[in-house]
Order: sequence, then C-alpha cells, then structure tokens
Amino acid sequence: MQFGHFDDEAREYVITTPHTPYPWINYLGAQDFFGLVSHMGGGYCFYRDAKMRRLTRYRYNNIPVDDGGRYFSINDGGDVWSPSYRPYKTELDRFETRHGMGYTRITGARGGVEASVLLFVPVDINAEIHQVTLTNTSDAAKSLQLFSFIEFCLWNAEDDQTNYQRNLNIGEVEVEDGAIYHKTEYRERRDHYAVYGVNAPVAGFDTDRDSFLGYGNGFDEAVVPHTGKATNSVASGWYPIGSHQLSVELEPGESKQFTFVLGYLENAADDKWEAPSVVNKKGGRELLAHFATNEATDAEFAKLNAYWDNLLGSYMVESGDDKLNRMVNIWNQYQCMVTYNMSRSASYFETGIGRGMGFRDSNQDLLGFVHLVPERARERIIDIASTQFEDGSAYHQYQPLTKRGNNAIGSGFNDDPLWLIAGVAAYIKETGDFAILDESVPFDNDESKATSLMDHLKRSFDHPLHNMGPHGLPLIGRADWNDCLNLNCFSTTPGESFQTTENQAGGVAESVFIAGMFCAIGPDYAALARRRGDEAEASRAEAAVSAMKQAVVDHGWDGAWFRRAYDYYGNVVGGDENAEAKIWIEPQGYCIMGGVGLEDGKAIQALDSVRERLNTPHGIVLLNPAFTEYHVELGEVSSYPPGYKENAGIFCHNNPWIIIAETIVGRNEYAWEYYKQITPAYREEISEVHRLEPYVYAQMIAGKDAQRHGEAKNSWLTGTASWNFVTVSQYLLGVRPDYDGLVVDPCIGAEVGEFTVRRQVRGATYEIHVTNSGSGRASLTVDGEPIEGNHVPYAPAGATVKVEARV
Ligand code: GLC
Ligand code: GLC
Repeated sequence: MQFGHFDDEAREYVITTPHTPYPWINYLGAQDFFGLVSHMGGGYCFYRDAKMRRLTRYRYNNIPVDDGGRYFSINDGGDVWSPSYRPYKTELDRFETRHGMGYTRITGARGGVEASVLLFVPVDINAEIHQVTLTNTSDAAKSLQLFSFIEFCLWNAEDDQTNYQRNLNIGEVEVEDGAIYHKTEYRERRDHYAVYGVNAPVAGFDTDRDSFLGYGNGFDEAVVPHTGKATNSVASGWYPIGSHQLSVELEPGESKQFTFVLGYLENAADDKWEAPSVVNKKGGRELLAHFATNEATDAEFAKLNAYWDNLLGSYMVESGDDKLNRMVNIWNQYQCMVTYNMSRSASYFETGIGRGMGFRDSNQDLLGFVHLVPERARERIIDIASTQFEDGSAYHQYQPLTKRGNNAIGSGFNDDPLWLIAGVAAYIKETGDFAILDESVPFDNDESKATSLMDHLKRSFDHPLHNMGPHGLPLIGRADWNDCLNLNCFSTTPGESFQTTENQAGGVAESVFIAGMFCAIGPDYAALARRRGDEAEASRAEAAVSAMKQAVVDHGWDGAWFRRAYDYYGNVVGGDENAEAKIWIEPQGYCIMGGVGLEDGKAIQALDSVRERLNTPHGIVLLNPAFTEYHVELGEVSSYPPGYKENAGIFCHNNPWIIIAETIVGRNEYAWEYYKQITPAYREEISEVHRLEPYVYAQMIAGKDAQRHGEAKNSWLTGTASWNFVTVSQYLLGVRPDYDGLVVDPCIGAEVGEFTVRRQVRGATYEIHVTNSGSGRASLTVDGEPIEGNHVPYAPAGATVKVEARV
C-alpha cells in the first residue's frame, strides 16, 4: 500500500493523506539553521546545536504522536481547520504534503478555501520561512481569520524539559510592530534572541500559551482560533509562544500570500540593548525587512533550488529503472547531506539532546558526502582529527558547537581510529588535495600537541597494531562498529550504559571485524605514504596488512564463514560452536572488502553462508540465530529482543558491505537483489509494512525473528545513507574516484540494462555509457580509444570525457 508517490521531475515525495503509518518528515536547512518538519507540520527548529540552541519546543514520546509544530489555523465563519490537518484533525477536502530538497509544502483545502504553507530555510540565512498562500476557490467572497502558532523552547532543550522550578519563571518576550521577540535569559548570559514576524499588518497577537490555548487545553482545542480573536497577551514566565492573527478578505478566485519569518539573531555582548531592558533588535528588523515582499521570499526559494541543482549535479545516472534513478540522483544524496549535517543528533528517533557527532559516524558520513561539498568535508576532517589522542585512539563523540571531545563518553572504541583513514582517503581521491596531509592538526584540541594530519593517520594505522590480542587480532576495547558488542563490560546494573560503564581490563577480547577493516583500509594508508615518497613506511604498512590477513585466515575463519570475535575469556564469538549468533554479517563484508579469501574460495563460501543463514526478503539480518537470552559477557547485543536492532535486526548500514563483497567476487545478481531489498523506493508499495518514509533509508528493519518483520525504525540519521550511496554509485554502477583516475567497474544486475552516468570530479565531466549484460568485467574506450584496465585517467578541469563501457 502507498500513501503517496514520487514526483521525480520536481524532486519531491508527494504524501496524499495525513494518515501515514508514522509521521513522515523532512529537513530544512543546510548550513547552520535547521528544522525538522513532518507531513502534518510537526517538528521544531534550532541553530547549529539541537540541544543548546533550540528555538521551538517539541515533545518526544508524546500522545498523540507528533504534537507540536508550526500550526496555521483558519477560522472561516466559525469553521476552524488547519491545512496540515493537525492539530484540529478537521477533515479536509484535499490534503497534500510535498517534501522536497530542503523545503516542504503542505496544502489543505476545505469549504472553498485552499491554504498552502511553504516551509524552508533560505541559503545562508538563519531563519525558517513559512510562506502561506490562501486562495478562495468558492464563488462567494470570504472573510477569514488566519492564526500562526509556534511555541518557544527556552533554548537548552534538555533543561527545557526538566528544570521547571526555574524555567516557569524566566520566559520573556517583546512585541514590536506585530513581530514577536523571544528573549528568555537574554537579560543575563545569552546574547541571542529569536523573532517571529510576518510581512503584513496583524489584527492581533498572542505570546502566552495559556491565553492562546486556554488553560488545560490541547493544541486541538486552542481557544483563540475558535473565538476568532487574539488576546494580545504578553508572556511573563510560564510558556512563551508566537502567534499572529491576520484578517484576510478574499474575492472569489483571489489569492493572498504572507511570509512569516522565524529567525535566530545574535548581538555582540556590549551591544545587547537599545534601551534599558529593551533588546537591540536591529538584526531582527533587518531580517524581517529582507522578507518584506513575497517576491523576496520567492527569490530566496529560487536560490535554494539552484543550490540543490548544483549539489546534485556531480553524480547522475540515467537508466530504465526509475527507482534506481530517483534514489541515486535525488533521495540518497539528499539523505547523505542531511546525515552529514545532523550526524545522529536530531530526528524523530533521536531527541537532539543525546548524542554529539560520532567519530566513526562522521567519518563514514563523509564517504557519501565528499562529492557534494568537498570544502566542507575538508573542514570536517580537521575537526574530527582534532579530537584524536596521541596514541591514535579518539573521543567517540564531540559537540558540534564547541568541537570538543565528549568526556562523558570518552574513548576506547577500537574501530574509531581506522575510520579516519577511510574518510581522509575518500576526500583525497575525490579532490586530489594531498596537501591536506600536511595540515597541522592538534590532539585533543590542544594546539601545543599539533602534528601533521599524515602523522594522525599513522597513529590511526598503528593503533590496532599496538593493541593486539593473543591471536594477533585487534583488541575490541569497548566495542567496534557494533556499539552493542561489549565484550569487556559485564554489566548487571539496570539502566547503566553499555557503552560507557567501567570496563574490566582484559587484553584478550579481539575483533575479527577490526582485522577486516585493517585489511580493507590499511592499503589506503600505504598508498598515501608511497605517494609522499615514504616507500619504507608503505612497505611496513603493507607487511602489517599481509600479517593481519594471515591472522584472519588462521584465527578468524570458522570453516564456512568468518568469525566475529573472541570474548574476554578467549572463546569464539560467531562460530558454529555457539548455540546462538553463530554467524554475524560484519566480518563477512569487511574481510572480503579487505581481500581475504578471494583466492581460496573462502569469500564465496562466506557469502553463500550469508545467503543461506542471514538473508530475508526484507534485507540481511545482522546475526543468526538471534540471541534469546542475555549474555553478560557479550553485552548490549544480547539485550534486545530477537530480531530488533543489533540482535538480528536488518541493520541497513552493513547490508552494503555484503553488496560490495558480492561485486568484488563478481556476483552481480546477488548484489543487485540485496540492494533492492532494503532501498526505500523499492519498498514503497509495502509502506504499510515498512511504515517509515519510502524516500529515505532507516537504520533498521525488523529481522526474521521479530514479530514485526519488515517494519523499519530510526529513519534518516544513519550511516546507511552514505554506505548505500557509496555502494550504488561506486560499486553497482561502478564509478569511483581513485587517486589518479576514475575507476569504471560496473557490477549490476542484467535487469538494469544500459545506463549512463554523468560524474563531475576535479572540475572535469565524465559521461560514461554502459552496455550492461550483468556479468563479467567492463572493457573501456575513452574518447573512442580502447584502454587497458578500468582506470580512466583524470582529465584537466573543464574537459568532458566520453567513456564507453561494455560489460
Ligand atoms: C548506530 C551508531 C553507529 C554504530 C551502529 C551499530 O548506528 O550510530 O556508530 O556503528 O549503531 O551499533
Ligand atoms: C545503542 C544502539 C546502537 C547505538 C548506540 C549508541 O547501543 O543499539 O545502535 O549505536 O546505542 O550509543
């Protein structure tokens, strides 16, 4: 069943009913100011940090789900409704929400009035725009009252939800010319305020929630829209809100447009006041003046669209498969951008007050983002590397506002260091900017300890070598990629965090997965060293990688698949001898990506085991059989009920590793089948099962052991976005940047037939036309000349190169 459809021409998903199985959301903003918006207008916005600078309030875990947002109410002769359906749930004659690239347009119609709200964050402006268009579609004149509504958050979203003894006293606003200024805590240490204004004369306003809703009422019972008369309330403590009333007269067929602006402004500490206790509103007034006309709003919207045209232009495919085209050209890249910006902070499953930027997450996010805005990727790399320690380990997370490592979480996740090499290598392949390796980068943000980025990579590379266990495999530490494989944690206290609790000093628990990573990512470190003329270091690295491969073969192979780990006692994790969780997905993918088992059949055998034991029509589960009991020596992974999350859920993040592995061994049909299983556009028709947005990946789909097999959770912010983009663009379609040329190596199902990829890299454009039989390696001609191998040398900036590939 579907709840809407794709409009690829407009780059939109069109939701045609409010009654989706869950709120289906979109993100606004691409630089510093961000909003989350559901198809019913729910959500909130913030400046840079969803915890520390939240502008509007949202209640997670509330009933009904998704309550609170930007609500526009219309009173049409006593009939009160909202184009977003929520909050009143008044039936609409027509409902449509279009989620596009950085904007959402919600349209509702009732009783001869159509109301449409366009929400977006303009490029380089710290504000959310709500452009409302009202049209009289009836044949009689209409006299309407329009009310806006947002609820202010008192900036720190965590404190806002917990510290009522203070917070219910501190709310303050000012109102000037119908514009509402939110200034809670401005009198003391904050130098920022918010403004909510509109480019039309207001008939009234409200800034006190109880006055607007009526004490004890829900959003759906708001008194003011029902009486049709704002009360001009000025909040003093309690709950500040922003609401305007506009009286709108419409002739038959007439439309009127209003631009509401919700902005974030900062003042210098010595320039905060324009009179005693009166906020210096210069910035706010200028912002509102900028949007004084609807044409100005249209121009900003056009800028936003141009911004996305430009971003999405660097990788485009044209094939006969619309679902493939729309994922590659539009939605997967879009999700990569959002994930890159948000890390794992703010979604409908992440409250924005929990996690900062993850070291491993951000490095992996780079892989799918780097082609979009390489300059920003460069900056991010330096930020991430600055949170590394001298021994190569790293803070597991850092805060985006301060860029400081997060002490509460600390370090000790032993996969972290290697991801930095992966991120930097991807950046250099994309840009050719080897100079980044000479950048001076601090350890733990301490400039006195700065050294070159290349030296950081060396420490990353050496970290697993300096932390080896008894089998010559890397020690796992707190966890590796699988945050829930906590082999040294032994937690028996309810509520204790598996990731941060005191670990037992072991020196035994090893990760076959990190070994696989080392084999896959280590060669990039060697390649970088060689390119810098350090042949000795390159050979040392290559020798270490060979030794690691041997250790995997000797101690990581179980007979028909790769083992997962050795636990605290040196027992096998992920072997046939285990009663539960005999086989895990992660090492099957990464060991093969690291080249283990390609010559002796182990790779194929491991992938056959994956197919037999882990694959389902909804994707490949993380492990099998699922844990049915808690294993204190394994940690959080065994804490989840069977089939959910890391306990045998379909973790969409690592399905791509298997897909890549299948392309490496040349089994294109399996690779293609696995891709389609988890890719949202291919799941659109089963939206009632999948339940989350059919345009973006979710972190997890419930596995075969779960009651709700096939149901997705945690959409949007997941490494799934970047890994699937890497997989489809670089391995299935097969166009991937290398240090000196573009590799063209398509490995995709026969069903896709011929296709063309247009790739812009380092200023040149490559038009790659592929005739695809679905098996075998490509033979290439470049500008009509046959070449050996699959490397198309980089052309000078400005050039267009035509490549013909026959598979
Ligand atoms: C979450 C985390 C990621 C981790 C994964 C597996 O997605 O953000 O860091 O690798 O779970 O546990
Ligand atoms: C939980 C989740 C995991 C996530 C981690 C973040 O362990 O299962 O997916 O990465 O929390 O700390």
